[in-house]
Amino acid sequence: MVHPLKIGRYIARYPVIQGGMGVRISAGNLAGHVAKCGGVGLVAAAGIALNSEFYNGRNYFQAEPEAFQAEIRKAYEIAPDGIIGVNVMVALSDFEALVRAAVDAGAKVIVCGAGLPMTLPELTIDHPDVALVPIASSVRAAQLIAKKWHKSYNRLPDAVVVEDPDTAGGHLGEKIENIGTGEYDQYATVRGIKAFFREEYGVEVPVIAAGGIWDRADVEHALAEGADGVQMASRFVCTDECDADMAFKQKYINCRKEDIGLIMSPAGLPGRAILDNKEQIRQHDLDNKVPCRMNCLKKCSYKESGERFCIVTALDRAQRGDVDTGLVFCGTNAWKADKITTVQEIFNELFG
Ligand SMILES: Cc1cc2nc3c(=O)[nH]c(=O)nc-3n(C[C@H](O)[C@H](O)[C@H](O)COP(=O)(O)O)c2cc1C
Repeated sequence: MVHPLKIGRYIARYPVIQGGMGVRISAGNLAGHVAKCGGVGLVAAAGIALNSEFYNGRNYFQAEPEAFQAEIRKAYEIAPDGIIGVNVMVALSDFEALVRAAVDAGAKVIVCGAGLPMTLPELTIDHPDVALVPIASSVRAAQLIAKKWHKSYNRLPDAVVVEDPDTAGGHLGEKIENIGTGEYDQYATVRGIKAFFREEYGVEVPVIAAGGIWDRADVEHALAEGADGVQMASRFVCTDECDADMAFKQKYINCRKEDIGLIMSPAGLPGRAILDNKEQIRQHDLDNKVPCRMNCLKKCSYKESGERFCIVTALDRAQRGDVDTGLVFCGTNAWKADKITTVQEIFNELFG
């Protein structure tokens, strides 16, 4: 059943996108190795400059695009002919600058979630070969994006990622009270979006399932249910190539199913994470009187009123290995990780 995945003018040997994982969990090394193995590797934009040579504590908005481009170049050094793309969250204050930086550095695919990327075709107008891929959790969201892009730019998405709020890691595009109710049907959404493009525009748009996909059986199930490919993030954390500190990876290996839950992010969205240190995350900000230094998000309750915690520094601490006060995002399947492996071994298991 496994077939290549065509997104715009690019064809990946295997129908797998490695999901973007912000704040340097998926930077150039992980993305490059996934692309080298025949998948689509994504460098995530959010907080990429932190813990990099480009950031001096004061120049966040200058350092972010520079660090982003450096990581995209690093990925291409690993996989010169690979499909290297990026993940840029619409909620980021410098969304536009990061999209422009990515296409200038040669990113072939741009995946955008955490908001509706209504202006994405305009930002990439000088790079028509770049494939544009919104993340949507509902048919309605995909329709809104498609209608706007078609009317304003005569363009449709090159693929759509359907992220399941009941299983995916990181920020989720659904109200917290609607998550885990059993109402959401990931594959009905996948088929609904495919049908919408077929009926409304007469085109086949690849639709990619994200959330809760861990092993070969999960991939086969997703394809059998009508998805053209899968996006997997948590599965790639416990690899030698993942850009996070070993303590971050070890936290996945040590966690139990019941440690994984939902936390309200200051971005106003729920996020899925390992929550055995939930109290310490905010306490760290209170103890250290952490100010909003970066202004990284367009809307943030920590920036506006000191509510919740500073998300980018909490994720940054975890990425560097402080998993006692840092925030470790993960999908519902992270407890299944039992060892550190390699990206190639994961591909062998999924498709060998
Ligand atoms: C550590 C981590 C960080 C993430 N960061 C981002 C991000 O920056 N932007 C984004 O759109 N999605 C982000 N996600 C979501 C993933 O890209 C992916 O869609 C989702 O986790 C898929 O579910 P899975 O982890 O069960 O495979 C993140 C997920 C994890 C686990």
